[in-house]
Amino acid sequence: MEYQKKNFLESLRGHKPDHVPFWFMRQAGRYLPEYRELRAQAGSFLNMAYNPDLACEITMQPIRRFQMDAAIIFSDILVIPHALGQNLEFVQGEGPKLNALRTAQEFSSLNFTNFEKTLTPVYEALSKTKTALQTEGYGGTSLIGFCGAPWTVACYMVEGGGSKDYLNVKKLAYSDPEGFQRLIDLLVESSAQYLINQISAGADAVQIFDSWAGVLDSHSFQKWVVKPTRQMVDLIRDTYPDVPIIGFPRCAGQNYLSYVQDTGVNAVGLDPSVDTKWAARTLQPLVAVQGNLDPICLFAGGDSMIMAAEKIIGDLTAAGQGGNFVFNLGHGINKDTPVENVEQLVKFIKEYKL
Ligand code: CP3
Repeated sequence: MEYQKKNFLESLRGHKPDHVPFWFMRQAGRYLPEYRELRAQAGSFLNMAYNPDLACEITMQPIRRFQMDAAIIFSDILVIPHALGQNLEFVQGEGPKLNALRTAQEFSSLNFTNFEKTLTPVYEALSKTKTALQTEGYGGTSLIGFCGAPWTVACYMVEGGGSKDYLNVKKLAYSDPEGFQRLIDLLVESSAQYLINQISAGADAVQIFDSWAGVLDSHSFQKWVVKPTRQMVDLIRDTYPDVPIIGFPRCAGQNYLSYVQDTGVNAVGLDPSVDTKWAARTLQPLVAVQGNLDPICLFAGGDSMIMAAEKIIGDLTAAGQGGNFVFNLGHGINKDTPVENVEQLVKFIKEYKL
């Protein structure tokens, strides 16, 4: 098999890539007709996520269309609470539903009894995808494993699903910090183990999604975002010191800097609100940055999308020769995004001369 340079990994390590490496959060999903077709057959989202053949197939779908520099394994951040024994259901059109655990007392039902058994299909999906990338000729495409960060996963566990104001989880964190810490500790340990196992199964890099990092005051941000992420990074590095770890503290604002300085991640995902010139000056000398086109700008398409992408790439490749940068969206692709817009954006990124 001919060796193909992995530009995504090269850039994360600060080396010059041959071209601008790119992938998109939620690149496998409902905006793709071939995904919707499989989803209709499979019945439920979890049936797909826990079926290694289907998860591998869905992971490959966007790669076959767009030849991204990285494939992200098709799964979800909520498999961790599920593997720890919390009920989980994805109701079509409504998002995830869990039985809300509102007190430290209620967390004591969580345990590791079925943890590895539940997650084994995810590891199998990673090994299958690793093989599929090679055999289908995408040897230059890296494979990303992922999990949710302890804070964000705790939000779903305590609220029982999405939330507008995170009232229950924040109330618990403020009123019973010791009890809440036990939940966070459990999530640090289980999530780090999960990422280590994903690397063993073939992941070349891992991403920690902290989608709700932006709802915390800055003292709580240190306590519930930075510290647990640091602990996870240390645990992963004990086993795999050289595998890049990407953190995504969405909407962290000014806290992005301390996140980068204090967690030890190799790269950071930027949400659309982060000024790319600021990121180039402040964050990029410390870590690789990934981002940050507004997914709704992709949804809208046209010239304004190309201009926005050009500015992001220009700002974040200005300092060096294009290393330390991976193009991405600032959040996941919207499900109603026209595929033609994705095609147009991908064409622009691929033709960009570094
Ligand atoms: O990026 C990828 O292509 C990999 C797969 C992936 C999914 N979820 C598949 C999915 C990843 C990386 C995630 C992460 C995830 N899941 C996050 C963090 C990133 C973010 O978006 O902030 C969060 C918060 C979740 C929790 C979750 N899962 C929600 C809130 C929902 C419902 C909302 C929605 O978009 O439908 C899901 C379901 C989900 N996870 C779908 C997919 C493709 C849709 C399921 C379907 O087909 O109905």
